[in-house]
This record gives sequence, C-alpha cells and structure tokens, in this order.
Amino acid sequence: MNSDLEKNPEAAAASEPRAGDGSRRDFLMKLGIGAGITALAGQTVASLRSLVPNVSYDAPTTVKLGLPTDFPDGLKFLPNERLFVFREGKTFHSISAVCTHLGCTVRAEALSKVETEDVSGKSLRLTHRYLCPCHGSEYKGDGTNVSGPAPKPLEWYELSLAPDDGQLVVDLAKPVGHDFRLTLA
Ligand code: FES
Repeated sequence: MNSDLEKNPEAAAASEPRAGDGSRRDFLMKLGIGAGITALAGQTVASLRSLVPNVSYDAPTTVKLGLPTDFPDGLKFLPNERLFVFREGKTFHSISAVCTHLGCTVRAEALSKVETEDVSGKSLRLTHRYLCPCHGSEYKGDGTNVSGPAPKPLEWYELSLAPDDGQLVVDLAKPVGHDFRLTLA
C-alpha cells in the first residue's frame, strides 16, 4: 500500500486530509444546526400563537346609535347591535334582543293593548312582548322571561349622549336595572 502511494504521489495527496476540510465540515454542521433551531423556534412560536384566541379584548363596547331625533316614539330595532331602543317623548331606554337561553335574536310582537306597569319602582309602558324563534322562550315587555327555556330576563343596557356630537350611545358592557331611563333636557 505504502509502496503504491510512493509510486503515485497524486493518489497519496488525494488520500491525505486537506487543510480546510475540517473547518468546512464544522461550518456545514453549524449551518445545519442553526437552520434546525430556526425551524423549531418558528414552529414553537406558531403553536404558542395558536393557543391565544384570535379576538381583541379591546373591542369597544360603546356604540353610537344616531341622533335622538332619528328615533321615533315607540320601539326601534337595531339589527347590528341586536337592540331595541324605546322612546317616549324625551325618555329613552334599551333592551337587548339577545335571548338569554342560547343567544338567538328575539323578535318583538306588538301587544293588542298597551299596558302600563310598575317595573322596579318606575312606571313603564309595555307595548310589545318578545318571542324567541329558536326554542320558544317568551319575554314580557320589560324583558322579563315568562315561559320557555330562557333562564333570565333580557338585558337592559345603559344609554347616554355622546359629548362630541350628541348621538345616543349604548354601552353593551353595562347592564342596568329595569328602572334605568335616559331623559334628555
Ligand atoms: S335561544 Fe331563545 S329559546 Fe333557545
């Protein structure tokens, strides 16, 4: 073997480790490890991100509904907010149209005869009742659940006037009692 190499110096040179082979191997190995770590980190970040719900907790809960003059006396249904706004002269209140059973939108049905009732210590004209098309829950005009699977009354939400442009504003994160009224000056 050695004699072969002696006879053929080129083969001997090719079989010897060349300067730089080791460092190239090291470099390629480090490159491979680096790429692996980068891919792993990317996957970890993606899986952690998937655990975070894709919602914004900063979504505004106050919604401008329009000028008070946009609301006729009686009931106006706002489909986007799923809200009934009632006006009686200068007095307003709002009742949610979201059924308290499983969240379907209830529909308002006008009563054949308007009733006035004492609700939470204040007189209230009851002009409608609310019916849920999903499982048949029924609510009185003030939102009190009277039959069906609905476990509690429809929510009432706080109304106010926007200081900048005078629009009616509802705060859908602020339920209020059934004695709430916004009375304009
Ligand atoms: S969602 Fe209204 S009764 Fe079930």
